[in-house]
This record gives sequence, C-alpha cells and structure tokens, in this order.
Amino acid sequence: MTIRNKYKALELETPGVYELEGLEVGVTSNCNYKCDYCCAYNRDDGECISGAEVIRIIRELPHLKRVRLSGGEVTLKYQDCLEIVTYCAAHGIDTQLNTNASLLTEERIIALRDAGLSNIHISFNYTDAESYAAYYRVHPSMYERLERNIRLCTELGLETVLETLLFKGNKDHMLAISDKVYDLGVRIHEIQNSIKMPHTDWSQIVSKESLVQSVTALIEHKKPDTRLYFTCMDRFAEQLNLREQPGVYFSNCVDGTKQLHLHGNGDILICELCHPVVIGNIYSGTSLKDIYKQQPVALTDFLKNRPCPAYDALFA
Ligand SMILES: C[S@@+](CC[C@H](N)C(=O)[O-])C[C@H]1O[C@@H](n2cnc3c(N)ncnc32)[C@H](O)[C@@H]1O
Ligand code: SF4
Ligand code: SF4
Repeated sequence: MTIRNKYKALELETPGVYELEGLEVGVTSNCNYKCDYCCAYNRDDGECISGAEVIRIIRELPHLKRVRLSGGEVTLKYQDCLEIVTYCAAHGIDTQLNTNASLLTEERIIALRDAGLSNIHISFNYTDAESYAAYYRVHPSMYERLERNIRLCTELGLETVLETLLFKGNKDHMLAISDKVYDLGVRIHEIQNSIKMPHTDWSQIVSKESLVQSVTALIEHKKPDTRLYFTCMDRFAEQLNLREQPGVYFSNCVDGTKQLHLHGNGDILICELCHPVVIGNIYSGTSLKDIYKQQPVALTDFLKNRPCPAYDALFA
C-alpha cells in the first residue's frame, strides 16, 4: 500500500483503539436533491451549525485527524464549509467535502482548493444525462453541470474521489461507470455498498452473488493508474474471497469507533446513515473530547455489539 489518499488513511489503519480521530459534520441536513436511497434529508430539522461553532468544537479535540463535511448537501452552506476547511488545513487536520456537485462553480472549487481541502468526494451513479435526470427527477442539464464540475475539480488540481453507490439500479452498469470516471480525469473511485436506512423502505441492496460479481469485474477492469476503495464491505470481504491488492482497498469502517457525526442541532450520532442513534448533545453537557472515556450507554452497547446493517443485509 504505497500510494494512498491521505484522507482515507484512517480507514486503512488497523482498528482497535477507540478514540475520536474523525468527525463528520452535518453543517446542514437540508438538500436540494431527494435521492430515493438516502435518508439524510429526512433528518432535516432546519438546524445548521456555523463554521465558527464547528471550529470552536474542533479546537478542543486533540486527537482529531480528519473532518468530513457531509449531511444533506453541505454546499448549501458553502461559506461555513470554507471556514472549516481553512481552519483544519492550517491545523494539520485533513478534510473531505461530500457533495452532489450541483452547487459548485469554478470560483468555489478554486477557493476550496486554495483553502487546503484534502479531497472532494462527489456522488456519481449514472453515465448519461437522460438516466441521471430520470432517476434524480432533475433537468438533464444538471448532469452536464455535474460532469463540468468534476472536470474542473481535476483540472484545477483538487484531489477528487467519485463515489458510486452499488445498488440494484446501477449494478449492471458498473464498468461503464468506471470508464466514465476515468474519462472525466478521476483516478480514485469509491464503491459504496448500499445500506438499508433504519427509517425508509428503500431496499435496492444487491445480492451476495451480484456484489461479488460487480466487485470482481471492477477489480479486473481496473487501470494501473487508478485506485479503488470499496466501503461497507470490510466485515465480509474475506469471507467472500474478495482481497486487497495494489491499488484496491476494502476500507475499515471507522463509524462509531473512531468517527462520530455532529448534527446541525448539536446532537452527536454514532453514524448518520447506518446507526443514527443520538448519544449526546454538545449543548446539553456532552463533551466530544471525553466521549470515549465517559461512554454513554448507547455508545458502550454499540462498541460491544458492533452492529453492521451492510453485513446483516447479506448474512443475517
Ligand atoms: C448523504 S450524502 C451527502 C453528500 C452529498 N449530498 C452527496 O449526495 O454526495 C453522502 C453519501 O451518502 C451516500 N448514501 C446515501 N444513501 C445511501 C445508502 N442507502 N447506502 C449507502 N450510502 C448512501 C451517498 O452515495 C453519498 O455519497
Ligand atoms: S444522497 Fe446527497 S444529494 Fe442525495 S438526498 Fe442524500 S444528501 Fe441529498
Ligand atoms: S457499520 Fe455502518 S458504516 Fe460501518 S461498514 Fe457497517 S454499514 Fe457501513
């Protein structure tokens, strides 16, 4: 494992020590999209956390290595994101901004790059404007904007990760998506295994056989100058005979063990997407700095049982 994305290093370390090293900040849970597979926008209570407030909190976390800005669509609060990135970069904390890219502009991309953003992480599930527009119920021009913004990110020298959710709706197009990722100039492709959210009926999770087929095909198809990260598969990759090799990683899950989610209203969640259990609130006396020492009961339970809906979906 020589070449790595610096931000993702935390997920490639051997797990074991429970310490708050990563914080996901849902600057806002509001979103301009309403994807069927997602639940984040259902948690939108209109509350946002400001850049200044996030910086105040981060300043008190001595072991923090990375901050992920992701909720709903956090670029709706672009200025706050920029402030957080600027602070983190100046203090040696890696940052990732998760976005659907619809609200990016050349000016914003340049500003984020210059502020020191470690990488931008863009959802990418379709290879043509018609399918994209039909799935997301948006105008086809939004796909053109997506492609344009991805190209801009790479051309302007911002490390770019495209994330593809593996689900029934696109499992047969994985190689075409992979080619498109490459054509857009992106060399880091993350394949996110679908999670059935606790509060929606959405269930487009692929079968074990389909998952193995897609992952194997993507690895065989991989070009030497690319890196593939498979996420939410680490619990069962070996069991399914899926193995790491140069440039192919099955990221270790850090949600709940090294990373927690901070919601706009101050709530601390174990994981926003798969385990949205509130274990405290920074405005009601919970100290993020000491949370692994004090361990609220729900966190102790989580660490003892380590539930994983991605595993359960295939093996339970
Ligand atoms: C909640 S979104 C927030 C960032 C941004 N709005 C976006 O769509 O990229 C963050 C990531 O969650 C992923 N996600 C959403 N629903 C999911 C699900 N059911 N299972 C796994 N990942 C999911 C998306 O693919 C996206 O990359
Ligand atoms: S996946 Fe992202 S773009 Fe889609 S609804 Fe969720 S937060 Fe919004
Ligand atoms: S616990 Fe959640 S985040 Fe971690 S691998 Fe399982 S589904 Fe993914």
